[in-house]
Amino acid sequence: MIKVEENVSLKSYNTFGIEAKTARFVAFKSIPELLDALKLRQANESILVLGGGSNILLTQDFDGLVLKNELKGIELIREDDEHIWIKSMAGESWHQFVLHCIENNWAGVENLSLIPGTVGAAPMQNIGAYGIEIKDVFESLEALEIESQKTKTFTSEECAFGYRESIFKTDLKGKYIITSVTFKLKKEPEFNTSYGAIQETLDQMGVSELSIKAISDAVIHIRQSKLPDPAKIGNAGSFFKNPTIDTLDYEGLKAEFPSIPGYKQAENKVKVPAAWLIEQAGWKGKTFGEIGVHKNQPLVLVNYGNGKGNDIKNLAFEIQASVASKFGIELTPEVNII
Ligand code: EPU
Repeated sequence: MIKVEENVSLKSYNTFGIEAKTARFVAFKSIPELLDALKLRQANESILVLGGGSNILLTQDFDGLVLKNELKGIELIREDDEHIWIKSMAGESWHQFVLHCIENNWAGVENLSLIPGTVGAAPMQNIGAYGIEIKDVFESLEALEIESQKTKTFTSEECAFGYRESIFKTDLKGKYIITSVTFKLKKEPEFNTSYGAIQETLDQMGVSELSIKAISDAVIHIRQSKLPDPAKIGNAGSFFKNPTIDTLDYEGLKAEFPSIPGYKQAENKVKVPAAWLIEQAGWKGKTFGEIGVHKNQPLVLVNYGNGKGNDIKNLAFEIQASVASKFGIELTPEVNII
């Protein structure tokens, strides 16, 4: 039986560790429990679905119903000579799912090791790291439409994946609850070690024979050395997206700031690392009372303990303003501000 709790603190349900309360809270462990929970929804009551709470910034108490997704289970649903189709329920921890795949020698998600959050939240923002995005291994997902309470299967195309984007952050925002995700993984791995420090880390680790476990270990090592552990310092990973600008604008900036990094994209566009822009604007490692900008990765804003959501939001505004005035580039938050 599901139980609605009232006036619940969300501090332990968001990786930023922000204190905010929700008027009502219910956790669901099965689809029938989710349907029961939706029946308890009051007229026009706002709904906030929480997975791992690793991509939200709470700036106020929530006057609605929080639905905590605790759907669990991973199953092999199909295989052929080369591929394996794995369905995971949305409430599984993303990293535990990755480890499960590695143990079974199912390849494709090893570069996405140690990303906080749940499986169901992963396609919402097309999580990515070290050269791989979830869209590269995605087969389909099932989601319940809140209004009709009907289940719909979404193909990759229907999810409209982009860089840290999907239809669930745009046109269908707040309309569906993702209940499961099916991945198409490989029996024979295709190693992807070209991004950043992966190869260098593998060499340092003395890895002579490449495996998906070795890549996962290297990614875990890099993440642990650069990114704050949300269990110790509150954070939601990258706070902003890396901006994409026109090649002409990039060339103009390059003349003024010769060391500006840039990665060529399609159609005369260049992606510029937000971390570099924020560091150059002088924010790296800065602390303001309970909050700050991380010392190793300035794209990550942190809460040292009792930071307030609004203070972090204001810090983000100040960073945006200073990057805009120094470089003429608009930074867009990646985190959902609530
Ligand atoms: N950089 C600096 N100063 C720093 C750190 C980085 O100037 O202190 C510059 C360097 O030029 C560096 C570049 O930023 O080459 C890129 O840095 P990094 O490889 O750390 O990646 P990122 O672009 O900052 C993105 C993702 C991360 C993901 C990493 C690795 C976004 C918004 N973030 O960060 O994802 O882990 O690549 O693939 O795309 C997240 O989304 O929450 C997240 C952590």
